[in-house]
Amino acid sequence: MRRFPDGFVWGTAASAYQIEGAVHADGRGTSVWDTFSHTPGLTRNGATGDVTCDHYHRVPEDVALMRKLGVGAYRFSTAWPRIFATGKGRPNEAGLAFYDRLVDVLLGAGIDPWVCLHHWDMPQALEDAGGWRNRDTAYRFADYCQTVMERLGDRVHHSAPINEPNVLPWVAYDMGVHAPGARSRPETLAAIHHINMAHGLCTQAIRAVDADIKQGLIISLGPVHPADDGEDYERAAEMVDCVWRRVMCDPIMLGRYPELLADELAPFIQSGDMDLIGVRPDYFGMNHYNRMYAAPDPDRIFGVQDVPPPGDVPVTEMQWQIDPSAMVEQFEDLKERYGDLPPIYITENGAAFDDNVGPDGAVDDQDRADYFSGYLNAVLDGLERGFDVRGYFVWSLMDNFEWAEGYEKKFGIVHVDFDSLKRTPKASFHHLSRIIGENAVAEFEPAPQDR
Ligand code: FCB
Repeated sequence: MRRFPDGFVWGTAASAYQIEGAVHADGRGTSVWDTFSHTPGLTRNGATGDVTCDHYHRVPEDVALMRKLGVGAYRFSTAWPRIFATGKGRPNEAGLAFYDRLVDVLLGAGIDPWVCLHHWDMPQALEDAGGWRNRDTAYRFADYCQTVMERLGDRVHHSAPINEPNVLPWVAYDMGVHAPGARSRPETLAAIHHINMAHGLCTQAIRAVDADIKQGLIISLGPVHPADDGEDYERAAEMVDCVWRRVMCDPIMLGRYPELLADELAPFIQSGDMDLIGVRPDYFGMNHYNRMYAAPDPDRIFGVQDVPPPGDVPVTEMQWQIDPSAMVEQFEDLKERYGDLPPIYITENGAAFDDNVGPDGAVDDQDRADYFSGYLNAVLDGLERGFDVRGYFVWSLMDNFEWAEGYEKKFGIVHVDFDSLKRTPKASFHHLSRIIGENAVAEFEPAPQDR
């Protein structure tokens, strides 16, 4: 067995729109995801988050599952439209009260709440005023963050402004496959800068509420490789690296934009912006799924796209390569670019597999259990190489609304029957529960045919 350090944080992660449902409850406003998912043809089988896991009405049951799993932390997001239905005005007391109760139920179960303030469900009214293309949205966001943390900050010790500030512009403004579904290069660049500003403004606002709340960056990172030989693939990899990783990490960690896009971003920058953005986070939250493979694509706005891994390699249902060594490679990349990092937490890691559901709803997902063994060994490899990894959050506790993929792609360690909403822990849940209980994982080598 390989042991994790004492005090290693074990958690699960989820986001509001993906699990809460109750979209009309208690004064919640419409979000961009309500609009997007209700637009025919934009999500698989027309799926919406209207009900999803109905977590809003099942908090005690879901927290009991976390307790059974044995985790000491839960990373969730607060829904901006529950607090400010139209993005401004007076906060909605019922929305704040929901998260207030959630925090108390978690603490009562010995689970530390980690609050992410935005996981992609912007109030539609703000989108109508330009969304992240509009500089003012960053200031509205900071007001909302301050309101939430003034309410929860006496019990919450870890927060993060925006889940994956890098994925958001890529999927929502470049590919257009997530809400609001734009496809424009200048709009993507505007969104990038304003999201970075929102990150800095939120950090500033929360530090003013309570400087002891640890403020992190939560970003999705994986090494970027050319998908094939040749100069055009090399250049594509440079651009994917730039749009996917560097336009967020460089300004936050180094205070400047990468050269490749600096001129195009310049028109959006006002005096003082880069100082505001370049604030070192208290912790580095790394969501990690896979290595990315870049290819030229003249139809995409930056002329590049990421493609499934070349060759016959193991992948998940998302076509994401399964190779735990990519996590350590990503740690090394970060060190090379930014030097010593703040403490690292893996704030998301997990996999979609085509679950085989038995008649009782039981799922024997050995593939997912193996996936966790492999990636947890990679965390330990990282620790052995001197990376200060302090925790690991599983994505995700339950099957849920996987954005444009609807309910087809399942990441849960708990199966959810979306008719009855019954929750059934899968084999991977029991596997992880043992690992967490022992704070140790067996050495794991993927079978040769899976390499
Ligand atoms: C991440 C998102 C999360 C979920 C997983 C599979 O990029 O943060 O909401 O969709 O991917």
